Amino acid sequence: MMSENVAGKVTLEKLVSLCQRRGFIFPSSDIYGGLSGCWDYGPVGAELKRNVKAAWWRSIVQERDDIVGMDTSILMNSKVWEASGHVTNFSDPLVECKNCHLRWKADDLTENKCPSCGGELTEERLFNTMFKTFIGPVEEDAAVVYLRPETAQGMFVNFQNALNTTRKRLPFGIAQQGKAFRNEITTGNFIFRSREFEIMEFEYFVKPGTDEKWFDYWVEERLNWYVKLGINKEHLKLNQHPEEKLAHYARSCTDVTYLFPHGWAELEGIANRTDFDLKQHSAASGKSMEYFDDETKEHYVPYIVEPSAGVDRAVLAFLCDAYDEEPDKDEIRVVFHFHPDLAPIKVAVLPLSRKENLAVFAKDVYTTLRPCFITQYDDTQSIGRRYRRQDELGTPYCVTIDFQSLEDNMATIRERDSMNQIRVPVSALKNTLLAKLSGEDLFVLPEGGKIWKEEKKES
Ligand code: GAP
Repeated sequence: MMSENVAGKVTLEKLVSLCQRRGFIFPSSDIYGGLSGCWDYGPVGAELKRNVKAAWWRSIVQERDDIVGMDTSILMNSKVWEASGHVTNFSDPLVECKNCHLRWKADDLTENKCPSCGGELTEERLFNTMFKTFIGPVEEDAAVVYLRPETAQGMFVNFQNALNTTRKRLPFGIAQQGKAFRNEITTGNFIFRSREFEIMEFEYFVKPGTDEKWFDYWVEERLNWYVKLGINKEHLKLNQHPEEKLAHYARSCTDVTYLFPHGWAELEGIANRTDFDLKQHSAASGKSMEYFDDETKEHYVPYIVEPSAGVDRAVLAFLCDAYDEEPDKDEIRVVFHFHPDLAPIKVAVLPLSRKENLAVFAKDVYTTLRPCFITQYDDTQSIGRRYRRQDELGTPYCVTIDFQSLEDNMATIRERDSMNQIRVPVSALKNTLLAKLSGEDLFVLPEGGKIWKEEKKES
């Protein structure tokens, strides 16, 4: 069953328009009519995306002993893509309409006719979705390089480098985030399927025979990551791939799917890549990809479990799930209930008026908070309008400075979700906000603080 939030309130049209109006996401090269399948993140969108990536990095690299981070190059020796099987296999079945000549990915079609004009379609042919370019000044076959379609290969070819320099033992992982490029036959649903996008993925190297256990472990862990960051559990579902749909490198794959406005679709794939990639690279390069297990004294090529998530799809899911429209007096309040770790702006400082003495005081508060949080200073329009604007940006806390602040040296903190307010000494602002952003209840007050306004009483 579709939830009201996802199916009822948020549509892609509303989201695209709000994202453009508030500076989350714009079409790429907009002044020239755009470029299909490419998007630009605006001032708040860039913060949101950074926060999604930072939350992932913290949980995968920072908070674990067994996974290290890397940042490998986008362009790689073409032999990598030959050995990995991408040059031969990284293809989608393409059909073309004989009437209007639009091209479609055959997998996406439910009927054997053109979705646009109903025309007859050509036979399927395979279309390799890797982008090609040339390295150096001569455009010849020997100079062909590919824009990586996944970041994984950079980690496979560095397996021994990462292992030897960190002196880790198996199970051991390498993680990275970065751009990937696919010349998709069709793009769409906003940032869901684009030609340039970002991936955050890691390769978890394990002893053969323990791969199924680790696969199950990572499916569970990755599903829970989205829930911890605020996605409603009912909007997430696991989907196990049937054998005929598996990528050329995978023995098994389970997707974490999300109930996007266009329906259930893949957010992240967890694949058991076996020893396929390391063996391919070992055979093609002549370099050993074996691991010596000094406990059992065995040599073996590790198996790999790979959780691979789309950054942009995660951003889209967090946007959809956080979006809400709430009745508020005679109006509708549009608000993003982002998890505090993901909210692009953490705190907004709002002086009640632009009068000079108040502005000096408020700027002072702003410069105190700015080094600790992404903070916005806004002194335009009525305070009500400014609260609404911050709600649409998903800012968890607004700090209001009024004329009484000049006398009692206190400021009001307004919470986005409940719209409740507390009044706290300016000297306690920073620590109070830090505590609230880490999950402390708004009504836990610092010394000298008081409840200022309680919008919705618990019944
Ligand atoms: N290394 C494995 C790999 O790349 P994938 O399932 O092809 O696996 C990983 O891609 C993730 O990247 C997907 O789960 C999806 O979230 C995201 N993704 C794939 N193609 C995309 C596209 N064209 N636009 C946006 N995100 C995409």
